[in-house]
Amino acid sequence: MKTAITELFGVKYPILLAGMGRVALPNMVAAVSNAGGLGVLGAGSSPPDLTREMIREIRTLTDKPFGVNAPLMIPNGKENAEVALQEKAPIINYSMGRGDWIAKAAHAYGGKVMASVTNVRFAERAQAHGADAVIAAGMEAAGHAGDVTTFVLIPRLVETLRIPVIAAGGVANGAGLVGALALGAAGVSMGTRFLLTQESPLHPNFKQAALGLDVSDTIFSDRFDGVFNRVMKTPAAVRAEKTWMNPFQVFLDSFGIARELRTPYLKLFAQVITAGPKQTLELMRMSQMLKMHTITLTTGDIDAGMTASGMSVGLVHDVPTIAELMERMVAEAKSAHARLNASMEDAPPVPALAENAA
Ligand SMILES: Cc1cc2nc3c(=O)[nH]c(=O)nc-3n(C[C@H](O)[C@H](O)[C@H](O)COP(=O)(O)O)c2cc1C
Repeated sequence: MKTAITELFGVKYPILLAGMGRVALPNMVAAVSNAGGLGVLGAGSSPPDLTREMIREIRTLTDKPFGVNAPLMIPNGKENAEVALQEKAPIINYSMGRGDWIAKAAHAYGGKVMASVTNVRFAERAQAHGADAVIAAGMEAAGHAGDVTTFVLIPRLVETLRIPVIAAGGVANGAGLVGALALGAAGVSMGTRFLLTQESPLHPNFKQAALGLDVSDTIFSDRFDGVFNRVMKTPAAVRAEKTWMNPFQVFLDSFGIARELRTPYLKLFAQVITAGPKQTLELMRMSQMLKMHTITLTTGDIDAGMTASGMSVGLVHDVPTIAELMERMVAEAKSAHARLNASMEDAPPVPALAENAA
């Protein structure tokens, strides 16, 4: 499996662990990279010194290339990108913002940059800003997804961009990988599939519940944090979509959040208030999501927790180790490819072509 991104990143397989905040932690990153893929740390809104520790921990667990994801618009997002640059992370994956400064600084030490995008405009902008590749999330994807499906978005970007396109959203097995490559992608990035592995920190209650879900058991709404976001259909998600947030509760929760982000309360308060009315509202909503997400990683209370999840949750039927999953994906991809080759060889020639040949 040689593609533009196996060459660009120096990995064996074009399979990426999506940089899921609070989920894609050093053990998962190293497991994916050690298995020949590219593990990407989900720095999310982690305190910057924790991000630095996690990057250093990854280096003790693997000598293979890895990436660091930083969503720039959330608290600690930009700071985490700065930490990744200071630590000379081999690959930096930014989302939700402008990354020209990241590309410039990463290229100076030989690092590579991937931008996560959801539409053609953002992808073209990322290319103009110096990104080496884009991760394009179709509407099937978990979390912040666009309104175009992976099946349409990927070929559209491939015909437009000069840089490689990595497909995200809806890929959970080897056939999905081959399908994405057939559409012109240079690799795939998977979130939901890796969320349901042994190494994932998702509470076993949620892993078990996810196995009972089908492809339509997600909710795609902008009611959670102001941007369209796909989550697992849990009782809490159903309620959150219908209820307006309680500003008093947000205020009460904000103290705990400042502690969790290891940010002085007044600094966080100022960041939120000065972000502009729209973003302030989004950040307030996001804080409620963060609280419900914590439940999926700690107590496992099925009624109260909420996590991002893609439609591909309905394609996941077990909870393997990452090494097992990687091995299986490669075997499935090879047999899907062989099946395609065989069906092409057996197929009768297309009449117009046969006439031309005659
Ligand atoms: C639990 C979870 C957390 C996520 N957190 C982030 C994040 O912090 N940053 C980000 O860019 N994408 C995040 N994503 C989205 C993934 O990067 C990716 O786009 C998506 O999972 C791909 O779709 P799939 O789930 O169908 O594989 C998250 C996804 C999941 C499932």
